[in-house]
Amino acid sequence: MGLGVAECFAAAGMGVVLTDATPELTRRAKDRLARRARGHAEAGLISEEAAARVEAVEAADEMAVAVDGVELVFEAVPEDIMLKEEILSSCSGAARDAIIVSNTSSLPINDLSAFVEHPGRFCGMHWFNPPEWTPGVEVIPAAATEEEVVGRLVEFLRSIGKRPAVVGDGPGFVANRIQNALFLEAVRCVEEGLASPREVDEVVRSCFGFRLPFFGPFQIADMAGLDVYENVLDVLEEGLGERFEAPGALRDLVEEGRTGTKSGAGFLEYTDEERERLLLERDRRYAALNELLKDLPPVDAGSAP
Ligand SMILES: NC(=O)c1ccc[n+]([C@@H]2O[C@H](COP(=O)([O-])OP(=O)(O)OC[C@H]3O[C@@H](n4cnc5c(N)ncnc54)[C@H](O)[C@@H]3O)[C@@H](O)[C@H]2O)c1
Repeated sequence: MGLGVAECFAAAGMGVVLTDATPELTRRAKDRLARRARGHAEAGLISEEAAARVEAVEAADEMAVAVDGVELVFEAVPEDIMLKEEILSSCSGAARDAIIVSNTSSLPINDLSAFVEHPGRFCGMHWFNPPEWTPGVEVIPAAATEEEVVGRLVEFLRSIGKRPAVVGDGPGFVANRIQNALFLEAVRCVEEGLASPREVDEVVRSCFGFRLPFFGPFQIADMAGLDVYENVLDVLEEGLGERFEAPGALRDLVEEGRTGTKSGAGFLEYTDEERERLLLERDRRYAALNELLKDLPPVDAGSAP
């Protein structure tokens, strides 16, 4: 993750200093980063100028040297709380006024914030693989993180073309929680013999997953109709148990007649004009995605065991 994020930062024109556990690993990381940027330029994915900026990234053998005088420290060591403690505490001593962020996937940000000298300038920043291309980044403030720091991080991520979302410090934050709920049901479908892994993948990517580059679950539910969702959940709960129980927030909206775009309000609110525009833009985007998928069909890799 560290290399991909370093490529993003450097390609966007920021000065970057890499460091790893040993001088030899740091040298190898710098070489790998340069090779990867060259490969991306040759594939036409980044410009020659951006690749040259990435190739010029600096490296420092000592962490204290790497973080000296920087504005932002991006920590991406393995997901081991003891190692995070060691690295965060030593770099926070050396980094003076820097904001320090941790790219943890799952460790509580409040716990990590106890390892730095200035928790007000510490924040979670969860990127997604591959970081060069995935736009979304979760920004997870600890209880002590200053609001101004969160604002600066969000602004910075937007300035390099990312799509940050500020989320709470709950288990798995938002993305891993939802992604794993999907994954668990996918595995259960296979275990129960409903479909093979390939078929599940096809259903997810081509049915409801097809919409996900454009809309999240709330807008999708609003467009489908919350009353429809409630009915479907009742059937699922009957067959699969209480993990599918319709949440109170959904039942309340249906009760109030807020059934989604068709009623002018669901989880979000829509004027007539907004609803017409939403549905038209939805159709335009889906048609464009279908065209793109004709040129870029699914990657046919992996075979059934
Ligand atoms: N892999 C993913 O898809 C992904 C996605 C989001 C977040 N994350 C998170 O990012 C972090 C890094 O994950 P990764 O998959 O890139 O791990 P990785 O093992 O690929 O990379 C970790 C890097 O940290 C270096 N390192 C180890 N000990 C060190 C030390 N003492 N000092 C300095 N550097 C040290 C390693 O040499 C390696 O270069 C983890 O917290 C992980 O949960 C990973």
